[in-house]
Amino acid sequence: MKKINAAITAVNCWLPDYILTNRELETMVDTTDEWIITRTGIQERRILKGNGLGSSYMGAKAVEGLLKKRGISALEIDLLICATATPDLQFPATGNIITDKIGAKNAFSYDINAACSGFIYSLITASKFIETGTYKKILVVGTDKMSSIVDYTDRQICVLFGDAAGAVLLEPNTDGYGIIDDIMKTDGSGMVHLHQKAGGSVKPATYQTIDAKEHFIYQDGKPVFKFAVTKMADVAEDILKKNNLTGEDVAWLVPHQANKRIIDATAKRIGLNSEKVMVNIQKYGNTTNGSIPLCLWEWEDKMKKGDNIIITAFGGGFTWGSIYLKWAYDKK
Ligand code: ACO
Repeated sequence: MKKINAAITAVNCWLPDYILTNRELETMVDTTDEWIITRTGIQERRILKGNGLGSSYMGAKAVEGLLKKRGISALEIDLLICATATPDLQFPATGNIITDKIGAKNAFSYDINAACSGFIYSLITASKFIETGTYKKILVVGTDKMSSIVDYTDRQICVLFGDAAGAVLLEPNTDGYGIIDDIMKTDGSGMVHLHQKAGGSVKPATYQTIDAKEHFIYQDGKPVFKFAVTKMADVAEDILKKNNLTGEDVAWLVPHQANKRIIDATAKRIGLNSEKVMVNIQKYGNTTNGSIPLCLWEWEDKMKKGDNIIITAFGGGFTWGSIYLKWAYDKK
């Protein structure tokens, strides 16, 4: 019997209309367009405006577009995994809300929270259900309304993040295309450097936690940067070695978009020139779980069936990892 791989067979994204530029941020905090561009590579980011709209709203929009594009009904979906660090609610899972919104009545769904690595963790989790022949159509959705946990008076944080959602469909492939290998890592001791202090079971919301701004992202940028640069480059190099590949064999590197300097260091380590690296951080900032599908979606025209693709991410936790896949289709 031929080995079943999990292949991405469709990708779609949804972005809010509102564009928050570096120039506008200059009017909000003590920063400059020049500082933001040189330290992060970001020029603008999208922000979801409107009352009562959260991550499920964006995720559902991304999925609805994907189903239309692929020409299938929501009723055909077996499972939906939602990667998010900004769920609509503590419970139920945002995936459950998206499933209801899109009318995927035959699917079960749940969330995975691995901060900026959530999308690749979810992709790998989903791939196992396909490889074992358990399910045939799985949606992996990455959606984050980062603006809901960003303090727009904190110049270190507010310049970095944007809102977005992306989704991919995974289906079985027996011709050697799809996900070939992965390396996934966690180091929970990194929690001290990057977390949200209140709103969980250890420190539920109180007037005091709100006054102390503990419902926003806390990040000690320097140690996170150091760890991210090293680990994202290490894991990208490791997955190539493990599969007897060199940079020459790679068609595209799809890095999580947290900081242009981290992306450049990763590409350099595995010997890739910039034409083979997907970079759109300048337009969207760090969209957490939206960032990998956002790249795949923007480069969908350029990827060719059989291309060797390396996806790599790093995020809060710390969490990081890399996926090696063979792209499974040419866009029509
Ligand atoms: N505008 C102007 N100056 C600023 C700004 C700003 N927006 N932000 C910080 N500064 C200042 C600092 O106050 C500091 O000034 P000082 O020297 O007088 O103290 C100076 O710039 C340098 O600050 P650093 O924090 O050392 O700047 P750095 O070069 O490290 O860049 C950044 C900060 C962009 C946050 C970087 O550390 C970074 O990218 N970290 C990693 C982010 C990441 O990968 N996160 C993981 C994924 S996110 C997730 O999982 C949710």
